Amino acid sequence: MAENGQPTGVYSASKDFIANAHVNAEQYAAMYAASVADPDAFWGAQGKRIDWIKDYSTVKNTSFDYGNVSIKWYEDGTLNVSANCIDRHMISRANQTAIIWEPDSPAAPAQHITYAQLLENTCRMANVLKAQGVEKGDRVVIYLPMIPEAAYAMLACARIGAIHSIVFAGFSPDALANRINDSEAKIVITADFAPRGGKKTALKSNTDQALLHCDDRVKCLVVKHTGDQTHWSAERDVDVKAEMAAARPYCPYVEMNAEDPLFILYTSGSTGKPKGVVHTSGGYLVYAAMTQQMTFDYQDGDVFWCTADVGWVTGHSYIIYGPLANGATTIMFEGVPTYPDAGRFWEVCAKHKVNQFYTAPTAIRSLMGMGPEWVDKHDLSSLRVLGSVGEPINPEAWNWYNTHVGKGKCPIVDTFWQTETGGHLITPLPGAIPQKPGSATKPFFGVKPVVLDPATATVQEATEADGVLCIADSWPGQMRTLWGDHARFEEAYFAQYRGYYFTGDGCRRDADGYYWITGRVDDVINVSGHRMGTAEVESALVAHPKVAESAVVGYPHDIKGQGIYAYVTLMNGVEPTDALRKELENWVRSEIGPIAKPDLIQWAPGLPKTRSGKIMRRILRKIAENDYGSLGDTSTLADPSVVDELINNRMNRG
Ligand code: WTA
Repeated sequence: MAENGQPTGVYSASKDFIANAHVNAEQYAAMYAASVADPDAFWGAQGKRIDWIKDYSTVKNTSFDYGNVSIKWYEDGTLNVSANCIDRHMISRANQTAIIWEPDSPAAPAQHITYAQLLENTCRMANVLKAQGVEKGDRVVIYLPMIPEAAYAMLACARIGAIHSIVFAGFSPDALANRINDSEAKIVITADFAPRGGKKTALKSNTDQALLHCDDRVKCLVVKHTGDQTHWSAERDVDVKAEMAAARPYCPYVEMNAEDPLFILYTSGSTGKPKGVVHTSGGYLVYAAMTQQMTFDYQDGDVFWCTADVGWVTGHSYIIYGPLANGATTIMFEGVPTYPDAGRFWEVCAKHKVNQFYTAPTAIRSLMGMGPEWVDKHDLSSLRVLGSVGEPINPEAWNWYNTHVGKGKCPIVDTFWQTETGGHLITPLPGAIPQKPGSATKPFFGVKPVVLDPATATVQEATEADGVLCIADSWPGQMRTLWGDHARFEEAYFAQYRGYYFTGDGCRRDADGYYWITGRVDDVINVSGHRMGTAEVESALVAHPKVAESAVVGYPHDIKGQGIYAYVTLMNGVEPTDALRKELENWVRSEIGPIAKPDLIQWAPGLPKTRSGKIMRRILRKIAENDYGSLGDTSTLADPSVVDELINNRMNRG
């Protein structure tokens, strides 16, 4: 036990597991060394795991040189991602289940969609898109619940060369409109309602509101999922299911260049509006497929369940593209872990005999609070590997996951990665790398992590190091640019530490060379595994007519990992009341979405600012953390007395 009373130690897979794993310790060492010594040879060979229409003659052509950042992999190869995820499996797997769809209500039947059915439905969807005028390179926004049509839509876009941009169904009409407009999408695909946890979100009505702020030509394709009544605009709305039923069941796939964009996914940055992360076709697919196979030790015939939503990158890479490229059976779950009760995850694991289970620490922590009896009543003997993603997993949650879910026999892969990275960057390979609870352990093949001293920007050569995490060279799954803004891409990721990709995360490397991610060092916070820019929440708050100014920071939250703490300065003469606090919470909910609702709002008659007017967030973070004894030097503040006022009225006294 460490001094904080938390479990420590090193955990290895069993001899049996290691003997049957894709990669053992010796193989990892040799392959890793080869991958960084000669990336062209390594990735040249790995590229063959997918099918190419025209083979590539070059592998890596990348530069992290600020001002000239350019990332290309397999650049003269051509392929189709949809063909790789579906058609190429038709010879051996036509009747194998590709997707198991588990609906929100356990009373409704699960759907087992074979590869043959996936092909037909994807083709029908592709033909519907084509009939609406969608062409190669066009953007299609997908705003859907976790239903099979979301998978068909993604793969249909890939099939005809359209670029999808999925907007998480929990986002508000405003957020949806911004993403439709930024990507200049021709089409938005939505559903009537999204059932989740027994409640329904009115997606179609949200979309109607969003489209008021978009070009009149944007078409709206509606999946009638629940069948509930919605407003219908005859000239704009299209009934997807009806059109799919009438469409041709086959659609040829388009030959795409390896570097043609596959999708855009908006994510939060430290400043400004969300960034449209662009992933391309060849390198992304090679990387998603390889990591899905290696990280989870996925074996042919396994049932793989990633509980994420397809609205996040985890859903893109590990529900759809990675597993399907590997010919896997992948689960799509419409519901939530606690509906109808806290045993739902485990009931689904038992029902579908899940072999690999991949979720977020926030889910583990909330289920941990409900007691182990919810886990114990289900047969989890099929589980072989457990995964974690989204934030550092605290050793307590790790231990609970290991003991109650894995029964001490399933390796836990703590996968560190980002929307920007396409796939895992630092993660144990279960048969090769012993785990330490709370550590993402070692880099994946081809990934060269470096720990920099944030003050001097120098690389720390010693094994034991503390600092910011950068990556020294490119890997195939890396994002290529920000949609329509390459300059911002360079600025955000390559300007601060020249020659490196900057992750935005802090990290520690221990004496064994294990990496421990310590969290974001910028103004991005991580709430229940959802990434949020504090600037986004601030701009939502100041858009309220009664708010003059606001500063938002994260603070430690038992279940969510981080909570949202908002300091709000009201307009002159506005009375701070509990009713107004509620109003502001709801305001942010409707401006961004429920995930952005502040947990704590503190009325701040003044904010701590330097004489040049810059808000000193360091101080606000400390107060939000209830750690106000060590605020450091406040003498540079224009008015140091505001700090005492904020401390006295702090909202977090835990
Ligand atoms: C954090 C999610 C520690 C990190 C795939 C990163 C993690 C951000 C881990 C990206 C992990 C993700 N351990 N921190 N295993 N996984 N993070 O873009 O701060 O939604 O920068 O991608 O989540 O979040 P994103």
